[in-house]
Amino acid sequence: MTKLKIGILGTGEIAKGRHIPAFHHVKEASITAVMDINEERAQNVANTFNIEHVCTDLGDMLGKIDALLITTPNKFHAPAAIQALNAGVHVMCEKPMALNTKECEDMIAAAEKSCKVLTIAYHYRFMKEARAAKRIIASGEIGEPLVIRIKAMRRRKVPGWGVFTNRDLQGGGTLIDYGCHLLDLALWLTGSSKPTEVSGTTYNHVSRQKDLVNEWGTINPATFEVEDHATAFIRLESGATVMLETSWAANIFQDEETISISGTKGGLDVFPLRVNKAENGVLLNSDVTWMPEDRPFEILQAEHFVQCCLGDCVPLFDAYESMFVSSIIESVYESAKIGRSVQIKR
Ligand SMILES: NC(=O)c1ccc[n+]([C@@H]2O[C@H](COP(=O)([O-])OP(=O)(O)OC[C@H]3O[C@@H](n4cnc5c(N)ncnc54)[C@H](O)[C@@H]3O)[C@@H](O)[C@H]2O)c1
Repeated sequence: MTKLKIGILGTGEIAKGRHIPAFHHVKEASITAVMDINEERAQNVANTFNIEHVCTDLGDMLGKIDALLITTPNKFHAPAAIQALNAGVHVMCEKPMALNTKECEDMIAAAEKSCKVLTIAYHYRFMKEARAAKRIIASGEIGEPLVIRIKAMRRRKVPGWGVFTNRDLQGGGTLIDYGCHLLDLALWLTGSSKPTEVSGTTYNHVSRQKDLVNEWGTINPATFEVEDHATAFIRLESGATVMLETSWAANIFQDEETISISGTKGGLDVFPLRVNKAENGVLLNSDVTWMPEDRPFEILQAEHFVQCCLGDCVPLFDAYESMFVSSIIESVYESAKIGRSVQIKR
């Protein structure tokens, strides 16, 4: 069997810790090339995982592979994806899709022109709770989704490694890094309606204090350039609204990661998954006691991408949906800057 040849751009934590081990479980694919601006890092990863080629030029690597996984800092997602798609290579790009809506549009245009797969690694969609929630909502159980509450909240867990707090390389902080996952999942679960208006606020007061008490490493307040907390109110074309709160550094009782959807007939919470209804004259909350497909999300994600590249399935990801997430993020930052709401035109 000829295997799909995959190359990896950016051999840092997420490539080593998640994607390379996950793709090793997919028998139809093989990671054959890696590249990193830090050549020694790429060489070490190639040695550890027995990968054939260590490249120093993206054009050269694209000539050797069928599909590219982009795991660089966010700033390089769009240019690398566009170059790969123009070269006829499928792309899976780490989240967020890109730094802004324009970059996403350019990526989509390149994908449409080349007819190659473009997916974004919003892996929460592969979690068993998410897949079950999608089925429940699609069955009409909760009716039309009206109000969506998202909490992606960590108590004093600012990433103290990598470039997460560098605005130029990442484009922002907790919203573009962590909140984006829950935002993507909530939009997908509720039918991917286009966002039309956003009002948002961002904060970075906690992480800019000296000697921050922080569970995830030491933070230098002098180089902390991004937001550690964001709130937003988002209107969708469907008439539904989203209330979003995300933080790396909240002063709260404990971490909280939830999506709560209130619909015309009932409600649904994800993490933990439960359905809240009114039936036969009583208010009823149903907990889930078993869910199928309990395999690791990163393996399901890798398998899905490979199957899409081989033409065996339709991508679970519409790149426009990932663009909506990026449009909202861009608009929250803009709204926070100007102090009023922002209309999303595209
Ligand atoms: N899905 C998730 O849950 C999740 C979790 C963490 C990170 N991420 C995303 O993955 C990406 C990488 O994050 P990470 O934690 O692995 O960061 P990292 O800093 O550990 O790794 C990034 C690697 O990219 C390399 N690099 C930088 N610029 C490059 C360029 N122009 N060309 C080639 N290589 C380049 C760096 O040398 C580094 O080895 C980011 O987009 C981040 O948002 C996603």
